[in-house]
Amino acid sequence: MFYGFILKRKLAFAGFVALVIIATTLQNITPYFFKLFVDEIPKLNYPGLIKLLYMFIAVNISGLLFNIASFWVGDFVLFNSAKEARLKIFNYIQSLDFAFHTGKSTGSLISAFKRGDSAFFTLFFEIHHRILEIVVSAFVMFFFFLRLDIRIVLFAFLSVAVTLVVTKFIISFNIKKRSIFNEKEDEISGILTDNLINYETVKLFAKEKWEENRLKDKFVGWIKALWGYGNSFRLIDFSIGAVTNLGLFLILFVSLQNAVHLKLTVGDFVLVTTFVGLFFSKLWELVFSLRDIAKTYADIEIYFGLLDNEITVKDPEKPVKLGKVSGRINFNNVSFSYKDGKQDALKDFCLKIKKGESIALIGKSGSGKTTAVKLLMRFFDTTKGNITIDGIDIKNLNKDKLRSLMGVVPQEPILFNNTISYNIGYGLPAGKAGKENATLGEIKAVANLANI
Ligand SMILES: Nc1ncnc2c1ncn2[C@@H]1O[C@H](COP(=O)(O)OP(=O)(O)OP(=O)(O)O)[C@@H](O)[C@H]1O
Ligand SMILES: [Mg+2]
Repeated sequence: MFYGFILKRKLAFAGFVALVIIATTLQNITPYFFKLFVDEIPKLNYPGLIKLLYMFIAVNISGLLFNIASFWVGDFVLFNSAKEARLKIFNYIQSLDFAFHTGKSTGSLISAFKRGDSAFFTLFFEIHHRILEIVVSAFVMFFFFLRLDIRIVLFAFLSVAVTLVVTKFIISFNIKKRSIFNEKEDEISGILTDNLINYETVKLFAKEKWEENRLKDKFVGWIKALWGYGNSFRLIDFSIGAVTNLGLFLILFVSLQNAVHLKLTVGDFVLVTTFVGLFFSKLWELVFSLRDIAKTYADIEIYFGLLDNEITVKDPEKPVKLGKVSGRINFNNVSFSYKDGKQDALKDFCLKIKKGESIALIGKSGSGKTTAVKLLMRFFDTTKGNITIDGIDIKNLNKDKLRSLMGVVPQEPILFNNTISYNIGYGLPAGKAGKENATLGEIKAVANLANI
């Protein structure tokens, strides 16, 4: 899924990977220059040394330029694909049914969205800049070590392999701890959002202290989960520290042995120590990088998992095109049960509304009046029976089209955080009369009608 978005720009992505490989190679041959310097100095060849210096700086600067270019091309791919992922998920959430929206926790959804989006950036950076760079620098190092002693290559390679295996196990443990922590964190943000939205009710019932205690209770599990998560990092630190130190010991042991037996020049020894010094700190980076990937992996799974929510109220494959609507509405033996909720919220409900007729539904609370209206709007589909407009089953109409036929005044006025004019203009159903937006004249006219 992640690469589904990234690979929409295949060429740019391939260029980016090539740039990272070139930049990293250039930036990682420094130890070789050090070796050349050390071996050349005793020869007292001043012009040769200066020439070497020029080459060294030229390689460094090219590495820097390629690195900047790689970031530039990478960001082009990243920014656009992150935007497209966000838009796709936003559009999908919008198209989800009423049932999803009534059942969702807005706080958790917002954090899933935010975490997912930042995970997208982190994952891209970690995989393509950090991990790819480490892999390339390992190859560069192996290439130079091969000329010296195959055992050095072997020990360096083993250190990487063992680090990867150990990391794999501890990281799956770490992901589990992270998921547990995320759940606790969501519960907390759920309470915060709930509290901020319902501030009026909280104040009306003087429940501030109660709300505070509700939050405090949730923090008990939160702290426990956070300790579990934090300690899983200590485990990573310890295991990887042990592996890298063992690798370091073996490589230096072999190199010192070779140096004493004059199989390595002083320059070669400098080459080994500088490469190893640089690379083993990179191995730590690899672990931290995998750790970050593990951390964000759970987030990105939840983010893209949003696309797995099923749309149950679907548009018909071949929608009926409506001409002018006269407004005859029939409920024919309609029954409806809420999923995981009230069974038979409506049962065998029949109603015929004639053209131009004004009617009111009156009944005691919970008798199903709002449910009937929601079924008419296709917020849900009937469990049994059907609803027709001018004799056409509403399941054969596009949801947008159907809803644009109706004007609704909800019980609770809800305003967007925008101007009054924006809020009034919002009432123009999408695409009505072929227009996207209401004109200022129309907005003023309806405002006058409503005495606003
Ligand atoms: N989202 C929901 N999930 C589960 N059950 C629901 C849901 N919405 C309503 N119900 C249940 O369905 C039944 C019908 O509710 P509905 O809101 O249609 O009644 P109403 O006639 O509009 O009531 P009121 O006069 O209080 O507005 C009630 O028992 C209600 O508890
Ligand atoms: Mg109601």
